[in-house]
Parts: sequence; structure tokens; C-alpha cells
Amino acid sequence: MTWQLKLFMAPLAGITNRVFRSLVREYGADYTCTEMVSVQGVIHRNRKTFSLLDLQKEEKAGIQLFGRNPEDFIKAFQVIEKKIKPQFIDINMGCPVPKIVKGGMGAALLREPHLAEKIVKTLVGEVKIPVSVKIRLGWDPEEKTGEEVALRCQEAGASWITVHGRTRDQFYSGNADWEGIAAIKKILEIPVVANGDVFSARDALDLSLTTGCRRIMVARGALGNPWIFEQIRRLEKGEEIFPPGKEEIMEAVKKHLEGLICLRGSEKRAVTEMRKHLGWYIKGFPGAREVRNNLVRMEKASEVQELLATYLAQVEKG
Ligand SMILES: Cc1cc2nc3c(=O)[nH]c(=O)nc-3n(C[C@H](O)[C@H](O)[C@H](O)COP(=O)(O)O)c2cc1C
Repeated sequence: MTWQLKLFMAPLAGITNRVFRSLVREYGADYTCTEMVSVQGVIHRNRKTFSLLDLQKEEKAGIQLFGRNPEDFIKAFQVIEKKIKPQFIDINMGCPVPKIVKGGMGAALLREPHLAEKIVKTLVGEVKIPVSVKIRLGWDPEEKTGEEVALRCQEAGASWITVHGRTRDQFYSGNADWEGIAAIKKILEIPVVANGDVFSARDALDLSLTTGCRRIMVARGALGNPWIFEQIRRLEKGEEIFPPGKEEIMEAVKKHLEGLICLRGSEKRAVTEMRKHLGWYIKGFPGAREVRNNLVRMEKASEVQELLATYLAQVEKG
């Protein structure tokens, strides 16, 4: 491999808050982003929507917006830029959730390439930071509009396009079609970020080789596994990679949990939110299910950390 990969942490609803973003950055992610944020929610000053725009003052991260009306994106950005200074704006054209696509947003925009182009053009004409777009290969196997949408977004001034190698009807199941990403990469001049099924460092390198993309996005593969970015870095340098040890897992969990307590202002809320992550941190370990069942009953950070440390010590001893 003659190039250095640029590593992107995917936007993940309910996951990629500033605590998670900071964690993956520490392990080597180059680009991070908020989860998808509704332009309508921003315009109407919805409190919950605002809480998703949680960039810290000096934090370099993008924000991802979803909506439909091009003017709404401008209005939302005008509200946002009074509060935070994002590094880039990503437009969501991939969300498959029925509630979103019924409103003609997310992946539904793949069925309206003209509107997709107009949204990007309108926003690019108004803002000074890069505008990127995240798409899928199309709506379904019969309607693979990804190439057309990508070309139109490029024409409209997008700085890069992220391609998730699935169609909308697949949601998150089945294998991502890396050849489909390669086909879009081939016809574009702007950078393409390849996304789909990177669950190991090896996957990241294979995805890059298959698609010719030097920008790789990790999504579910980073859940309970922020080390994946460091492992990709090592592997691309030809170095050996090792699974994280007990100390390293505990250190990440501690940072994650303490960060969430700070962010949520409540230990109970943070511990509740952390439960799903704890399940991911110990996924695949022997007896993980039983430990998970015990963890979900706990409300104190100290209890969680104690149980986890004891368990991991047992696992390590074998
Ligand atoms: C729980 C969850 C939440 C997600 N939230 C978002 C989101 O807010 N914005 C977005 O563009 N994609 C979102 N995605 C899609 C991911 O960014 C990514 O495109 C997808 O998971 C495919 O990558 P993977 O196969 O490596 O997981 C979400 C996916 C999951 C599983």
C-alpha cells in the first residue's frame, strides 16, 4: 500500500456524541461527525435536536443534517453557526428508517436526484465550509441511482461523497457491495469515502484495495472497539496487531463512562446509556451474556467498573 488511509468514524444515531467522538479520535480516527440532525428541529429550536449539536469549542468535527427543503438547510445552518463552528456539513441521503423516508428525507432523496443536487447546490452557495454527502448505492436493486446522485452532488459542489455499499431496502443487512462503491469511485473526480462492513483492520485495507478509495469509514465495527482505528494504522504500516488487553479495555470504558456522566450531568443516566456499549465492549468473550445481564441492573459507575474489571481479569487468566 503506497498511501496513508484517511479514517472516518461514521455518524451513528445514539452513539457518536462528543464523548464517543473524542474516544475514537484518541485511537486514530481522522474525521468524526455528529449523528444525523433534523433541519426542521434546528429551525424550530427543538431542545432535543440542539442537544445533538454537542461540539466542544475547539473540537474539529462535522455535523450531519437531514431534511428535504433546500432552503431549510440554509435556515438551519444560520441558527447553527451562531452556536458552533463545525468542520464540515454532511447531508444525509442514506437513512432507511420509514419515518424519515416517508417524509422524503434520508434515502428517499436517492429517488429524487434533481432535488438532491439542489440541496447541495443551495448549501454550497451559502456556506464557507466543505459540504459532503452520504449516500447508498440506491433505493433497491431495480433503482440503483447512487451513481447519478453522486455525479449530481459533485456537479453541485460537494467536497466528497461517502458511499455506503448497500441499497435502502437492505437497511443494514446482507453484505455491503464493495464493487458498487468502486463503480461510483471510478466515475467521480472528488474523493469517495468507502463505507460498509469494516469490522477489522484487515477489512479496512481490503475495502481500500477493492474500491481504490483511500478514505475509509468505520461504523458498527467501532462499537465497543474504538481500537480498530489504531489497528488499521498498524496494519497499513505492516506492523502486527493485537486485541486490547484488560487494562486497555478498562481505560476506554472508564473514559467513556466518565465522559458520559459529565455530558449527561447524571450518573444514573450515563450508566443507563453506557449499558449497550458495555455489551459491545465484551461481545464475543466467554460468559459475556451473564455479565451483561448483571451490568444492566447496575446504576452506579463504580459498581459497573468493579464488575467489569473482575470479569476481564478472569477472562484474561483464561
Ligand atoms: C445504530 C446506527 C445508527 C446510525 N445512524 C446514522 C446516522 O445518524 N447517519 C448516517 O448517515 N448513518 C447512520 N447509520 C449508518 C452508518 O453510518 C453506516 O453507513 C452503516 O452502519 C454501514 O456501515 P457498517 O456496515 O460498517 O456498519 C447508522 C447505523 C447504525 C447501525
